[in-house]
Amino acid sequence: MDKPFIVALDFASKEEVRSFLQLFSDTSLFLKVGMELYFQEGPAIIDELKQRGHDIFLDLKLHDIPHTVKRAMKGLAKLGVDLVNVHASGGSAMMRAAIEGLEEGTPHGMNRPRCIAVTQLTSTSEQMLRDELCMERTMEEIVLHYAELAKTSGLDGVVCSAKEVPLIRERCGEQFLTVTPGIRFANDDKNDQVRVVTPYEAKQLGTNYIVIGRSITKAHDPYAAYERLKREWDGGQ
Ligand code: C5P
Repeated sequence: MDKPFIVALDFASKEEVRSFLQLFSDTSLFLKVGMELYFQEGPAIIDELKQRGHDIFLDLKLHDIPHTVKRAMKGLAKLGVDLVNVHASGGSAMMRAAIEGLEEGTPHGMNRPRCIAVTQLTSTSEQMLRDELCMERTMEEIVLHYAELAKTSGLDGVVCSAKEVPLIRERCGEQFLTVTPGIRFANDDKNDQVRVVTPYEAKQLGTNYIVIGRSITKAHDPYAAYERLKREWDGGQ
């Protein structure tokens, strides 16, 4: 996991994935496989991507009783993925069970997949927290509380907005990973993301990994967009 850019493979089939990856020839990428692709193609897509030399974030956002999450994570660890996640709202027992399952399932001699928690989805608003989920505290307080809960439960980090990174690092320390979606180039369409930052802003805010989807996958020239991402991350134009 030495690459700070995670490209979201938000595609519905392996054929679409293959034609996208053809554009990158020999470049080894850090790829995010989410529910859409995994529920269509299953573990075979993970195998295929690994064989091509890519790192994998399997973004299935588990949330269930501790026993079920533990057993599910045991199975996911066997796939040899690098990063997985859960919803922090599943609670500390569930998060500890996730880590236990990953430890049990990791093949001998390999590293346990790192596990991060979703604090609040970027599609959740403060109004929704209050009116639908009966949560009276502010978004920031809830995100920080969930980040601390994830840390004390043994998780490796959180998914969060880049704007939340400085506070999370202050509360949870430099070793606690921050993985941030909502990344757009300066002149891009925001689509459904509300709070977006540029790659360079995300780096300045101290994020460890950025998750970037449509700005690369829907670009006229995805390879050129990826090269631009690398340049901008390093402070260039
Ligand atoms: O296309 P875009 O760059 O907006 O894609 C962002 C990716 O990050 C999508 O796969 C989305 O599901 C994921 N994500 C997100 N917000 C979260 C968690 C995951 O946008 N809080």
